[in-house]
Amino acid sequence: MDSTNAAAERAAQAGAPEGTCIVAQTQTAGRGRLGRRWHSPRGGLWLSVVLRPRAACASANPGMLSIVAGVAAAEAIRATTSLPARVKWPNDVIVAGRKVCGVLVEGRWRGSALEWVVVGIGINVCVDLGGLPPEVRANAGTLLAPSDPAAPFVLESLLACLLSRLEAAYHDFLSGGFSGILERARQHCSTLGQRVVVTGRGAPIEGLALDIGPDGALVVRTAFGDVRVSSGEVSIRVQTPGGGPAG
Ligand code: BTN
Repeated sequence: MDSTNAAAERAAQAGAPEGTCIVAQTQTAGRGRLGRRWHSPRGGLWLSVVLRPRAACASANPGMLSIVAGVAAAEAIRATTSLPARVKWPNDVIVAGRKVCGVLVEGRWRGSALEWVVVGIGINVCVDLGGLPPEVRANAGTLLAPSDPAAPFVLESLLACLLSRLEAAYHDFLSGGFSGILERARQHCSTLGQRVVVTGRGAPIEGLALDIGPDGALVVRTAFGDVRVSSGEVSIRVQTPGGGPAG
C-alpha cells in the first residue's frame, strides 16, 4: 500500500460511500502534515476513512474534522491502553511528551461545499522506534514495545475502538456542529495554559495558549492582543526555573 489516504481519495473519487475505511499494515508513501513523509513500518495502525459531510453539515471544514479525529484517537488510546493520551493542538496525540499519533485530513471542495473528506490516522502502536530516522525518533513514541506479547490484541482492539469513537464523535459533530465536540477537545488538549510559539505561513506567533474557539482555532494571548490561529505547528516554550524560556 502506498498511502491509505491516497487509496481512500481514489476510492472517494470513484464514488465510495461515507464510512469506507482503508487499513494498512505498512505504507510505502505515508503522508504527513505540511507535505512531510509519514514513516509507517509494521506495528502501526495506519487507516483512512471517507466522509461526506456536505449535505449534513454545511459548515464542516477539514480543520474541524481533524480535531474531531484527534479527540476520537486520544479517547480510543485511553480506553484501550489506559495510557494518559492528550492532544497537542490541533490533532497530534501525545503520551508522556511523545507523539504517538498523527492525523491528516484531506478534502475535495465542490464550490463552497466539501464533496468528500478523507480522515487519515496513524498510530504507533508497537513500532520499533529505532528504525525511524533520527529527526522523527527524537519526538516519536509508541504505545507498546514491539516485543510486547499483547501487541497483536491491542492493535486489533484499538482499531475497533477507534472506528467506533470516530463514528460517535463524527455524529456528535454532525448533530451539534463543532460545539458538539468542543468541550472534549478542550478537556483533552495539552496545549491550553502553555506558552507557545505557532509557526506557519506568516510570522511566528508567541504567547499563552488560552482556548480553542468555536471554530477550532487556537486562541493565543500575545503581547499585541488575542490572536486566533487556524493552522500551524505549535511548539511549547519550556520555562526555566528563572522564568525565561529554555529555548
Ligand atoms: C502528521 O503529520 O501528524 C499526520 C500523519 C498522518 C499519517 C496517517 S497514516 C494513515 C494515513 N495515510 C497517510 O498517508 N497518512 C495518514
